[in-house]
Parts: sequence; structure tokens; C-alpha cells
Amino acid sequence: MLDVSRMQEYTEPVKADLEAFDRGLADYLRGDSPLISSIARHLLRSRGKRIRPAFLFLSSRAADSFTEYSVKASLAIELIHTATLLHDDVVDESDMRRGLKTVNAQWTNLISVLMGDYLFAKAFRIMVETGSLELMHAISMATERVSVGELRQIEETGNYALSEDEYLTVIADKTASLFTVSCEAGPILTNQQKSERNRLATFGEKIGIAFQIADDLLDYVGDAETTGKEPGNDVLTGKVTLPLIYSLQKAKAKVRKEVLALLKADETEDKFQRVYEFVSDTGGIDYAYKRAADTAQQGLDAISRLHKSAYLDSLVSMVEFTTRRAS
Ligand code: IPE
Ligand code: IPE
Ligand code: MG
Ligand code: MG
Repeated sequence: MLDVSRMQEYTEPVKADLEAFDRGLADYLRGDSPLISSIARHLLRSRGKRIRPAFLFLSSRAADSFTEYSVKASLAIELIHTATLLHDDVVDESDMRRGLKTVNAQWTNLISVLMGDYLFAKAFRIMVETGSLELMHAISMATERVSVGELRQIEETGNYALSEDEYLTVIADKTASLFTVSCEAGPILTNQQKSERNRLATFGEKIGIAFQIADDLLDYVGDAETTGKEPGNDVLTGKVTLPLIYSLQKAKAKVRKEVLALLKADETEDKFQRVYEFVSDTGGIDYAYKRAADTAQQGLDAISRLHKSAYLDSLVSMVEFTTRRAS
């Protein structure tokens, strides 16, 4: 089954919330200038999976902490997510996103960066409308972590000695941060005990890490038609991710030396294919899938105390989906 229809099935219990989210997004993205409007239309047409809102609604409802401000919280987070993608595609020189040309490819780098800033500003306004200082604090901190992670990643570009722990810290910051705040938004908005909030935050953090490991896997094994992104981009831009980290550690000295030379050499037609074969043959792909599944399980362990509900069942299915997804 296609990922989109699987997600639709798993998020059925929060269908109405996601529809409210969609209406809100279309409203907020109406645009304040012809240029903004046309980019906003492009963004709405190529809408993403809305996985952060889905986790926000499911976890809030599973923890009996959905409020009238939950949709606003999800909108602020999704707009921040979209803003970071507009910046990330400039940084990564990506041409394709969500099956369409990236904003930097269709317009320019400058426009993509400024449109990203515009979305950040919109997100801050919506965040303030929730009236929760605690939530504003959590969202601001998450946004800061995204920048720290993206900057750390640039620093580590081409560092083939990057350790697994360093990699995990980078992805926790750049990606898990927004999942964390999505999952703790409910307990924050309903002023629940710190322990309850922490459990949901841990859940989000683990799921976010698993999600990024899966995304990095898709850069090896994904197909452009399904992911909407070109595979091989990470290898070709010197981004070192878990499958490669593992394989470089496992490889025999001689092979390792050859692969390092290949990685550092100029791009050739078969560069990605050769790196892919090395990683696959040395077990890097299998290892990363296992690591994603283990991390996701740690996330589920953190919320094992939630009472039984259709929301919790969906949450469990979504976690499984997150680590095995194809897009
Ligand atoms: C892409 O996130 C960036 C990562 C953190 C891997 P998504 O895969 O959630 O992107 P969309 O919103 O569905 O396009
Ligand atoms: C995620 O990193 C981007 C952000 C957290 C901003 P990636 O660079 O791996 O995401 P994709 O693959 O471009 O979606
Ligand atoms: Mg990228
Ligand atoms: Mg990626």
C-alpha cells in the first residue's frame, strides 16, 4: 500500500483535527504579496506528509490533553518545519522536494531563504496566539535546536570519521526537536505534571531520531518517484549518515581506504552506485533499519503507561510506519 493511504488509515481517529489543520494552513498561507502567494500555492500543492501534526494530535488525544489551541500549536510547528526545509534545500542544493521542484530550483536561493524567514515569522505569530508561554518556550527551544543541528551538520560535512554518537546528536537536534515539541504540546497546554510531559517528550525525541535514520536510509534505498526527493544526494554532497558510518567501521582496512578515496574523489556517473553497493554489502543498510526500529521501540516504552484507546493504537501504527516508510 502507498505511504499516503497508509498514513490516512492510521490517522483516521484524528481526521477532523487534520482537516482543521489543513484549513488553517491554507488560511495562513494566503499570502501578502503576489510572489508570496505563488510560492504559497506551490507549497500547498506539494504538501508534505503532515507527520508532525499527526503525532501532535494523536499523542495529545491519547494522553487526554487535546485543547482548543492544539491546532494552532501544530500549525506553528509545521510552518517552522516548512521554513527549515526552504533553508535546507538551499544548503543541500536540492532540486526536488515532495515530487516538485524545490523553491530554490523553481525561483532562486535568495527567494527560498526569504520565504523561509517569512514562514518563521508567521509561525511565531501563531505560536503567540496559543497564549501559552511554556509552549512558546518549548517551540523556540526546538527551533534553536534545528539550527544547531543543521550548522553542526555543515561542520561535519566530509568528515568520514564521524562517530555514531555524534551523528545521533546532530539528527536529534535537527529533526527530533520538532517531533519532541509536537508530542509534548498536549501536556504543556494542559499544564500536566512534569513527569507526564517528559514521557511524551521522550517518546517524540525517540520517534524523531528513528524518523531521520529512516530518511537517511531513503537517501540510499529510496526511489525518487515515491520519496519525491533524489536519492544519492547525501553521498554526493559529503553528508555522512548511519549506513555509511557503520559500514566504514566494519570494512577491512584495504576496502575502507578504497572507499574513502572514492568518497573524496570528484563526482562520477557511478559514484553513488558504488558507495551504495559497499554500504549494502557490509551491512550498513540492515544495521540502520535495526537501529531505527530499536529507537522507535524505546519511544513506545516511554508511553507504555497511557491507557488503551484508538488513539494509542494509531500512535503505535504510526511509529511502525515511521521506521519502515518508503517516502
Ligand atoms: C523532511 O521531513 C525533512 C526531515 C526532517 C527528514 P518530512 O519527511 O516530514 O517532510 P514532508 O513535510 O513530509 O515533505
Ligand atoms: C532534514 O535533513 C532537514 C531539516 C531538519 C531542516 P535532510 O537534509 O536529511 O532532509 P531532506 O532529506 O532534505 O528532506
Ligand atoms: Mg536536505
Ligand atoms: Mg535526507
